[in-house]
Amino acid sequence: MTPATPITEVVLRGILDSRARPTVEADVSLGEVRGRGSCPVAIAPGRLERRRGLNTGGLGRLRDGPAGRLLTDALTGCSPDGQAGLDARLRELDDRHELGADVTLAVSLAYARASAAVAGRSLCAWLTELGSSTPGPPRLLVNAFSGGIHRSGAPDSFQQVMAIPHAGSLIDDVHAALEIYGAVERGIAEGGGTPAISASSGFLPGDRDVSWQLGTLRRACPAETKATLGVDVAAEHLLAAPGRYRFQGREHASAGFGALLLDLARAHGVEYVEDPFDPVDTDAWRAFLPAAREAGVTVVGDDLFASDATRVRPGLADAVLLKPSQAGTVTATLDAARAARDAGLLLVVSHRSGETEDTAMCDLAVAVGAEWIKVGGPRRGDRIAKYNQLIRLTEGTPPPETGLPGP
Ligand code: PGA
Ligand code: ZN
Repeated sequence: MTPATPITEVVLRGILDSRARPTVEADVSLGEVRGRGSCPVAIAPGRLERRRGLNTGGLGRLRDGPAGRLLTDALTGCSPDGQAGLDARLRELDDRHELGADVTLAVSLAYARASAAVAGRSLCAWLTELGSSTPGPPRLLVNAFSGGIHRSGAPDSFQQVMAIPHAGSLIDDVHAALEIYGAVERGIAEGGGTPAISASSGFLPGDRDVSWQLGTLRRACPAETKATLGVDVAAEHLLAAPGRYRFQGREHASAGFGALLLDLARAHGVEYVEDPFDPVDTDAWRAFLPAAREAGVTVVGDDLFASDATRVRPGLADAVLLKPSQAGTVTATLDAARAARDAGLLLVVSHRSGETEDTAMCDLAVAVGAEWIKVGGPRRGDRIAKYNQLIRLTEGTPPPETGLPGP
């Protein structure tokens, strides 16, 4: 597994995410082979996840910034002990110099791509080997409406309302996603609205409430797609005080908020609820889980676990949401996936609200056999790049890595 070739060059550069805000991309060269990786950006990161660096914000080559210099000095000419060795070194640099999870992920991913290319494997096959996982296609979570942090003012609605097609195969689910998304768009236009979209390419519903969004989305799902619905409550951002949640102009205590969520789920056929409570409100999670199961709802922890293997445990949720940018390295992400499986939990691989055109999350989702993947609505290059990579991955054996994201 260990590439014999030492690292010959590390290049760090500032590029743009889907909100046209700066983020970080890295190129790592192993001799003639160059791998590339980048890090997406959260509009409002969870408070348990690893932090972004203090050194970035510029565009173009970050050669003279502290992060660029540190990485060049620390990594050029070194032969790390495979991905785990490199990632341990990156974590050490982060702990010591506040390099930031954005920088460590970009470098870690670039190294994974370069190593896969040296080994003659696709990124997906390489991640499967690194994680000793069982690969398989995920089901799509299709972002139809965006709210919460995507609206102006203090968030008081769900961050995402999603359709979950069960059309038969991943390709059929992509067809269904396009049909459902198009129907929502036409519905907004016919109602006299202008279909504006968020950073994650979900429609911004204006002042329409969550019941309207769920009802509209349900009506937009043709019967043959067998679609159900899902929501990302992102409750950490709804917190008014410990154990109290702002929602549509009112404040609710945890128990009442949980009951309200399940009423909405029953009324609209919601089968997936992500982050129903703040991560420290663990009593609420524990009480909600059996009631949600009874209602046929899968409970998913995003900010709850923050893609951190040490936080993953059973009894709070049915599934762990994996965001490589929360974990900070490829190894930490795969460790979180393994911890989830060991705890008997399902997996969701997720985008961030601000994405680049990097498609590694698709390879990761297939490599760990995630049950779901969330890549945003099917509009704009950063999201379409993911749909396209998923389409390619359905062919079975992808060609060896070229080092660059995409085809
Ligand atoms: P983010 O979350 O805003 O933290 O990137 C996106 C999501 O959970 O879908
Ligand atoms: Zn989330």
